[in-house]
Amino acid sequence: MKLNIAVIKGDGIGPEIVTEAMKVLDKVAFVYSHEINYKEVLMGGASIDAYGIPLTDETIEVCRFSDAVLMGSIGGDTNTSPWYKLEPSKRPEAGLLGIRKALNLFANLRPAYLYRELSDACPLKKEIADKGFDMLIMRELTGGLYFGERKTVTENGIKKAVDTLTYTEEEIRRIAIKAFEIARKRRNSVISVDKANVLDSSRLWRSVVNEVSKDYPDVKLEHMLVDNCAMQLVRDPSQFDVVLTENMFGDILSDEASMITGSIGMLSSASLNDTKFGLYEPSHGSAPDIAGLNIANPIATILSASMMLRYTFDLDKEADDIERAVNSVLSDGLRTADIYTDGTTKISCSDMGDEIAGRIGK
Ligand code: IPM
Ligand code: MG
Repeated sequence: MKLNIAVIKGDGIGPEIVTEAMKVLDKVAFVYSHEINYKEVLMGGASIDAYGIPLTDETIEVCRFSDAVLMGSIGGDTNTSPWYKLEPSKRPEAGLLGIRKALNLFANLRPAYLYRELSDACPLKKEIADKGFDMLIMRELTGGLYFGERKTVTENGIKKAVDTLTYTEEEIRRIAIKAFEIARKRRNSVISVDKANVLDSSRLWRSVVNEVSKDYPDVKLEHMLVDNCAMQLVRDPSQFDVVLTENMFGDILSDEASMITGSIGMLSSASLNDTKFGLYEPSHGSAPDIAGLNIANPIATILSASMMLRYTFDLDKEADDIERAVNSVLSDGLRTADIYTDGTTKISCSDMGDEIAGRIGK
C-alpha cells in the first residue's frame, strides 16, 4: 500500500519524537511491504521563524492532499519565547487551531490506558491503580470556547475580555454519533460530560446526546457534570469507557487522564473528520525545557502513528504490531526518564525508538 503522509515536526521536543515515530513507521513499511511518501511542512513556532506566521496556505494544502498528517507538538515557553510577544492570532497555537478548523477535524480521540508495567508510575493509590483503566476521551475539537467570538475592549476605562461558548445541534450530533459508534467497538458505554447545571450550551449538548442515543440502544449512556468527572477520574478511573465531551472540558480532562497513566508522555491522539483523513499527534505539549536533550518520551507519538495505521489506512495488523512492540519494550523494563522507576532501565528518546522499531515483525 502507498501511504502519503504529511509530517509536521513542530517545536520543542517535536522533531525528536516525530523522528522516532518515523523510524517505527519505516520499519513497519519494510516488514509489511508498504511504501511511505513523507512530505515535511512547517507549523507553529517553526513556521513563524521561517514565514512570520504559524500556518501557511501551503501547509494546509500539503496536509489536505495527503492521506494523513503526523505531527509532533507545537509552541514554546510562554514566559520567555519571542513567539508570545506576537499578537494572539500569530502565535504557535493559532496554527494548531487553524489547521484543525481548516481540515474540519472535529473529533479528537484520546485513549488513556494504564499499562500494567507502569502502575508504579501511576500517581494514584495502589488499590485504585490495581483495578486498571482503559478509556477513550472523545473531545469535540472545532467548536466551543476555542472558536467562539472573542475580544478585549475597554469600557469606561475598564478592560473587559469576552470569550463565547457556542455549539449548534449539528456540531453536537456529529461528535455524539462518533462516540456511540466507537463505543460499539469497545465496551458499549458512553459517559457524556457537561456543565448542564449552569450552561445553556451544555443543556443543548445533553438533549442532542440523548436524542442520538436512541439509535444506539445497545450502548449505555450516562451524563456526568465536568467537576464531578474531574474527581471521578482520580477516584475510580475504571468506570470510564468512552468519555464524550466538548472542546475545553476535553482539553482539561484529557491532560488529567493522561497523567494517571503514569506519564503524559504515553497518550496518543487522533483528530478526524468525516472521511478517512486524520491528523495524529501526541496529546502532550512541546516540553521546551527538555528539547534537544534526547530524553523525551516518544511513545505517545509512536502510538499516534499506530492510530494512523488503524484509522486512516485500516492496517490493523500493523497497528497491533506497534502496540505489541511498545508493550514488549515496557515489559523488558526499558523506560524514558518520565516513566523511570527504581529497578527499571533508563534509556534515551532515540534508543526508545530503536527498541520499538527493532521489535516490529518479531
Ligand atoms: C491540546 C493542546 C492545545 C489545545 C493547545 C496547544 C492549543 O493543549 O492539544 O490539548 O488546547 O487544544
Ligand atoms: Mg491540551
